[in-house]
Amino acid sequence: MATSEQLIALVKAHYDGDSERVKTVVLQIAAHEAKIGHSVLAQSLKELVLKQGGDSAINRIKPIDSTLIIRGQSKARKSDLIVSERLDEQIDNIILEFAQRSKLNKKGYAHRRKILLEGLPGTGKTLTASVFATELKLPLFLIQTDKLVSKYMGETGTKLRQVFDSISQETGVYFFDEFDSIGSERAADNDVKEMHRVLNLFLQFIEQDTSDSIILAASNSGSSLDQALFRRFDDVLQFSLPSKDETIKLFSLKLNKFNSKSLITQEIVDLTVGLCHADITKACENAIKQAILADKRQVSRDVLIKMIEERRDVYRTKGIR
Ligand SMILES: Nc1ncnc2c1ncn2[C@@H]1O[C@H](COP(=O)(O)OP(=O)(O)OP(=O)(O)O)[C@@H](O)[C@H]1O
Ligand SMILES: [Mg+2]
Repeated sequence: MATSEQLIALVKAHYDGDSERVKTVVLQIAAHEAKIGHSVLAQSLKELVLKQGGDSAINRIKPIDSTLIIRGQSKARKSDLIVSERLDEQIDNIILEFAQRSKLNKKGYAHRRKILLEGLPGTGKTLTASVFATELKLPLFLIQTDKLVSKYMGETGTKLRQVFDSISQETGVYFFDEFDSIGSERAADNDVKEMHRVLNLFLQFIEQDTSDSIILAASNSGSSLDQALFRRFDDVLQFSLPSKDETIKLFSLKLNKFNSKSLITQEIVDLTVGLCHADITKACENAIKQAILADKRQVSRDVLIKMIEERRDVYRTKGIR
């Protein structure tokens, strides 16, 4: 095994973008492995670095601000997502096109991979990013959009370049959450010019990107997004509040976990009109938790109604929906 110092040196050299140092440390590890009789491993390591030559991928890796891109967790499956038939089909198509991208590429077509996710809060945009990553067996990367925009245009450009470098270096699902902060036309007057410059820069980067990665941009604002943006995306996924049918499916998914599917009645469904998926999910989870704490084997109908009402009250007091 490589020593801990060697491993630390290797990781440090990688993040410093120092390809020569990476090579040196890998060769040191190879020598060490050869000495202790691991000749196959030693040979493979040597071949790996020597094959890379001067123009290695390592050379192109630039140090990246680790707070700008965060590696996310993805466990959600497609079956966890309750959406309209249209959206369901669009998501299936994106998954299929990625899985069969080489077939498309051979005929000169690119898979759909620059996707705008648009819709009210709590309707499944972030969940969908996670679903893509799980179903495509790709790492999920969350880009901290608010940290991208700096007072200094040069700095914003550098950060954007770092993000797009990562996108092309490691195939994954890259999620620009709260994309509105770049994509909105509604920025305060004195910010408008600046935001347009950042937006244009983003558009250039996204247009030039020819990687395999899936790029997702999520927005709450809808109509305020710049029209130029829509053209740059291969697909726009519209998320909306659940229909009655979707509400029933969502209740089934959540309450089934606690043997309480029988509670779903027209009355319960009617109570949720205007609530988003996240609210219904929370109401179910809160009701299940109460049942667990009260040592019950099923959710009580009254408790479920109370939990739904609690979610509704939040909007009533805020005067929305
Ligand atoms: N369409 C959906 N199907 C199933 N569960 C959902 C759906 N939408 C939301 N949920 C539940 O609500 C939680 C929060 O939703 P999510 O974070 O995906 O919403 P969002 O659209 O990204 O909201 P925001 O705009 O506030 O970021 C999810 O983790 C999931 O438990
Ligand atoms: Mg979200």
